[in-house]
Amino acid sequence: MSLLIVEDLDLWYGEKKVLHGISFELGEGEILCIVGESGSGKSSILQSVMGLLPPQARLSGRILFRGTDLTELSEGERRRIRGRDMGMVFQEPSSYLDPLFTVGSQIEEAYRSHFPEDRSSREKAIEAMRRAGIPRAEEKFGMFPHQLSGGLKQRVCIAVSIVCQPSLLLADEPTTALDVSVQKKILQLFRKLREEGKSILLVTHDFGVVAEVGDRVIVLKEGRIVEEGDVFRVFDRPSHDYTKLLLEAI
Ligand SMILES: Nc1ncnc2c1ncn2[C@@H]1O[C@H](COP(=O)(O)OP(=O)(O)OP(=O)(O)O)[C@@H](O)[C@H]1O
Ligand SMILES: [Mg+2]
Repeated sequence: MSLLIVEDLDLWYGEKKVLHGISFELGEGEILCIVGESGSGKSSILQSVMGLLPPQARLSGRILFRGTDLTELSEGERRRIRGRDMGMVFQEPSSYLDPLFTVGSQIEEAYRSHFPEDRSSREKAIEAMRRAGIPRAEEKFGMFPHQLSGGLKQRVCIAVSIVCQPSLLLADEPTTALDVSVQKKILQLFRKLREEGKSILLVTHDFGVVAEVGDRVIVLKEGRIVEEGDVFRVFDRPSHDYTKLLLEAI
């Protein structure tokens, strides 16, 4: 059975409808990429799955995670799942770090909030930093966000998202601010997670990233899925004019 099934998702912000009948499935150990122009609704899909929509948002449809419809859960039940069973790398992640706490303590806290009894939270945090491609992780553990470059902060946020080893990772342009060699490390991490049976929903505007790690891809336009398929098929024989246009642009 699929880990995640999104069924006929509609989303409004106030009067404005921004997602129209979005349906897709994500299997275990699969990487599904979402591409599409700015404003097409990519982040809105991830926020719907994560349960982090702003108050003015209204949603209909079903979001089944391991068979449970997330839209029917209470906020408390969602909070237990969020971070532990599904992690998220936010677009512009730096704004999610607290300037007053060291990055290490923030990663540790993300772990401790779900596993308060586990004494190894510090080791778990450092391990997550290493996996996220942070060199000399122990040294960086005690630093504050402003002492780190944008690329390092981005990797700290990736560490936060994976520290509980969630089975689903939602990643919104996770490699955009990173230089090529660091980007390679993150893509390696994603492949490693897939090998471990984890599933990833990956938003990117970079077809190079799609080609490197994607199993399947969804193309969004104005809140609608205009194309969906195996990455190789879509690259080889895009069926929608909009996909052709996106592919021609690279
Ligand atoms: N909090 C919000 N309130 C009202 N409208 C919003 C809100 N967030 C997003 N929107 C609108 O919803 C639509 C989809 O936005 P979304 O951020 O999901 O797009 P995106 O594909 O992630 O774009 P980008 O590539 O620029 O990140 C846009 O028209 C956007 O203006
Ligand atoms: Mg976005």
